[in-house]
Amino acid sequence: MLKGKKLAVIGVGKLGEALISGLLKQGGLTTGDIIGSVGHEPSVEKVNKKLGIKVSTDNRATAKGADLIILAVKPQNMHNVLLELEDVLTPDQLVISVAASVTTKYVEQRLSKPIPVIRAMPNTPAIYNAGMTGMCNGSHVTTEQSKVAESIFKCIGETVFVDESLMDGVTALSASGPAYLYVIIESLAEAGVKLGISRETSTLLAAQTTYGAAKMVLESKSHPALLKDMVTTPAGCTIDGLMELEEGKIRVTLIKAVVKAAERARELVNTQNSTGS
Ligand SMILES: NC(=O)c1ccc[n+]([C@@H]2O[C@H](COP(=O)([O-])OP(=O)(O)OC[C@H]3O[C@@H](n4cnc5c(N)ncnc54)[C@H](OP(=O)(O)O)[C@@H]3O)[C@@H](O)[C@H]2O)c1
Repeated sequence: MLKGKKLAVIGVGKLGEALISGLLKQGGLTTGDIIGSVGHEPSVEKVNKKLGIKVSTDNRATAKGADLIILAVKPQNMHNVLLELEDVLTPDQLVISVAASVTTKYVEQRLSKPIPVIRAMPNTPAIYNAGMTGMCNGSHVTTEQSKVAESIFKCIGETVFVDESLMDGVTALSASGPAYLYVIIESLAEAGVKLGISRETSTLLAAQTTYGAAKMVLESKSHPALLKDMVTTPAGCTIDGLMELEEGKIRVTLIKAVVKAAERARELVNTQNSTGS
């Protein structure tokens, strides 16, 4: 679906890089099909060397003539970037914003023409083709354009369309989610170290166990509670571990973490000191 399309990425930072790497590996696009822009001159060479695509600090030239334009700058840079692009973008181009907190309406209102805008919220495991992207359509998007956008994010993992009112929740759950899981993996590995297992082996045990448990949920389609019961032998050791987790209020802590991140996601676009998703 992407073959022959020209893609522009405005803001090739951590996420932009992850997306471009995935598209080069899985999307049937070549380095000649993708062009990128960054905020500062020193990043130009760095990104060019890393990805092999043409890069500049000229957003207008980057967006001109592209079929698909991914806006991957920080939410607080979005207003100025849209001001720059306002008279360059045309309704036959498809704009995809991956910025946390930025609504399709926010983007549409800052463009002078009825440009199709899709909001997408991917996450960094996209680098290893294990990303999760929540998506929603703006006012001027056709079904065909929706499918094209979906095919971009399918190259880097799973996708799901949700109502736009749920996008801050998606941001807090799956875009921020890897950070919560790294803390869990790190903590499990620390436990292995405490029990005398080397850090390297402990990290492998923790990470592969997390990966395997997630795969069980996805492939068996069983409720996580049922899968937990399969591991928990009566009077065995797992139930003792679970009791400690419950005493430490792990469930309510995780729920509150996601709810708090969603609250922050709602206000990011208006914040000058925000740092990402
Ligand atoms: N990281 C994640 O896990 C994640 C997940 C989902 C969505 N997102 C969203 O993705 C966006 C980018 O996040 P990130 O983590 O990739 O941040 P990042 O690494 O800081 O990347 C931001 C990029 O934007 C460039 N930039 C800054 N000002 C610009 C301008 N005026 N014109 C063009 N480019 C400009 C920066 O270039 P310089 O470095 O040269 O300034 C940098 O390449 C954010 O809106 C975030 O909400 C991130």
